[in-house]
Amino acid sequence: MNDALLAAVAAAHGTPTYVYDLDTVTDRFRRVERAFPGARVHYAVKANALGPLLAHLAALGAHAEALTLGELERALRAGFAPEHVVLGGPGHTPDLARRAAEVGVGLVSLDSVGAWEVWREVAAPATRFLVRLNPGFDPRTHEHLATGAAESKFGLPEGEAVAVAEEAAASGRLAGFHVHAGSMISDPEVARLVTEALEPLYRRFAGLELVDFGGGFAVPGPDLEAFAAPLLAFAERHGVTPVIEPGRYLVAESGVLLTRVLHVKEGGPVRHVIADAGMADLLRPALYGAAHPVRVVGTEAGSAGGGQAAAGVGPVSGRTASGPRGATAGRAPGSPAADDRPVDLDGPLCENADRLGRDVRLEGVGAGALLAVAVAGAYGFAMASNYASSLRPAQVVASGGGFTLASRREEPADLWRLEAPVGAPRPGASARETVAGLLASMDSPARAAAALLTGAADHLRPRLGRLEDLARAFGNELYRPLIGVGADAIRELDERVADHGEVARAVVATPEGDFVVTLARRPAGDRPGRWLVTGLARDLPGA
Ligand SMILES: Cc1ncc(COP(=O)(O)O)c(C=O)c1O
Repeated sequence: MNDALLAAVAAAHGTPTYVYDLDTVTDRFRRVERAFPGARVHYAVKANALGPLLAHLAALGAHAEALTLGELERALRAGFAPEHVVLGGPGHTPDLARRAAEVGVGLVSLDSVGAWEVWREVAAPATRFLVRLNPGFDPRTHEHLATGAAESKFGLPEGEAVAVAEEAAASGRLAGFHVHAGSMISDPEVARLVTEALEPLYRRFAGLELVDFGGGFAVPGPDLEAFAAPLLAFAERHGVTPVIEPGRYLVAESGVLLTRVLHVKEGGPVRHVIADAGMADLLRPALYGAAHPVRVVGTEAGSAGGGQAAAGVGPVSGRTASGPRGATAGRAPGSPAADDRPVDLDGPLCENADRLGRDVRLEGVGAGALLAVAVAGAYGFAMASNYASSLRPAQVVASGGGFTLASRREEPADLWRLEAPVGAPRPGASARETVAGLLASMDSPARAAAALLTGAADHLRPRLGRLEDLARAFGNELYRPLIGVGADAIRELDERVADHGEVARAVVATPEGDFVVTLARRPAGDRPGRWLVTGLARDLPGA
């Protein structure tokens, strides 16, 4: 993505914002297809679960690998066929298994004896099983990513894998075995070690259909063909279809995190560039010491395009973001702040680990500069959090030189969307007091209505059993709220409040049926006034 496009995205949607180039995703998917002919490519949804990106991969012909209920539902929503989903992960619960079986998930990877015990109890005649082997070797990657190491929690040691596989085979549903040795793997020797670990299992069990080699290809990409060679040879030798589950490789290089410089702190021994994105937006530097290339976006608007770095700023990121400081250590306090000193690129939160990069070369960068943190398409937004009530970034997808907003930036109200109202009911308070408190604490009438009829009504249910009780509880100085049933009642509600300033309406589902709530407020002087419940109705035909 060129600077003109990135600058235009920042101008349209602000910062921090993730931008994903779907054309790069297409390119990486085709590269994987070429390197693994005949393999089923299941995209690991955990790397980036944005709907349009998932839909793009599904349209390219990818299958999906999901880990949680949320990933499963996202994959289905984006258009992956359930029979093209492999459900993996160490945390299978009866609820997850029931839902997966109900929608017809084709393949399940059993990570433990416990997972098999869960699945044994679920009616899933169409589901086929893989048993995940812990191969017990060092996959030569960061310890957080070394899922194939013997001491990691993943998979089953060979003896247990055999026992689970025998039971699955006895039920006629064993499809094969699964190994995911780790992530960010660049040494093809790891692929050979995987096949070595699987060999005894494929000799022992006859009639298997698949072998799942997991994902884990590093970026920048390793030699995929060198990786593929031992895996494909293994699959051919045993007459099974190879399955792979790349996540990072397909999306990492498609993504950029745009962030803007807020301040540059020159005074201390280290030059700190404080940006508006940090560990809450991109956790990888803090979590893994990952070093993402960072550059200044050259032109704020109207660039001719095509250019990469501007103003002599290269995509250089020195040491790991959380590792020990190396060559630039020990700068004398008070030493002059030369512009060419590498900088720490820090975030806006109160944590030393809140950093996007250490010893980054960003010569001459000043407040207001727009930065592009590259290779951020995988495990970027996916690991973003609301830590320190940070608002998670907007996400934009780009293709063919254009872009569209795929997910808006969070607003403060999103932070408490799932919370009970601040004016939570006080034990012993009357219904009327409670309702008044709730209304006063609400910033939006729809939220007030929802809270009244869900949170508050839950609390008040013993006293609000009947519509008449509701009428009493919601009474206020302006109206006896109209309580009604049916479409006429709703029309009447609206007419009745029409000349009383702003009117809002919400439909709220409760165990007692759907309620329509109307609220109105009149200006009080120059202030908007307080929202008042003006009507409640329920049991609408078709509501
Ligand atoms: C079982 C499994 N498959 C696939 C992946 C995807 O790994 P990567 O994104 O490194 O390709 C992971 C990552 O954690 C995983 O646990």
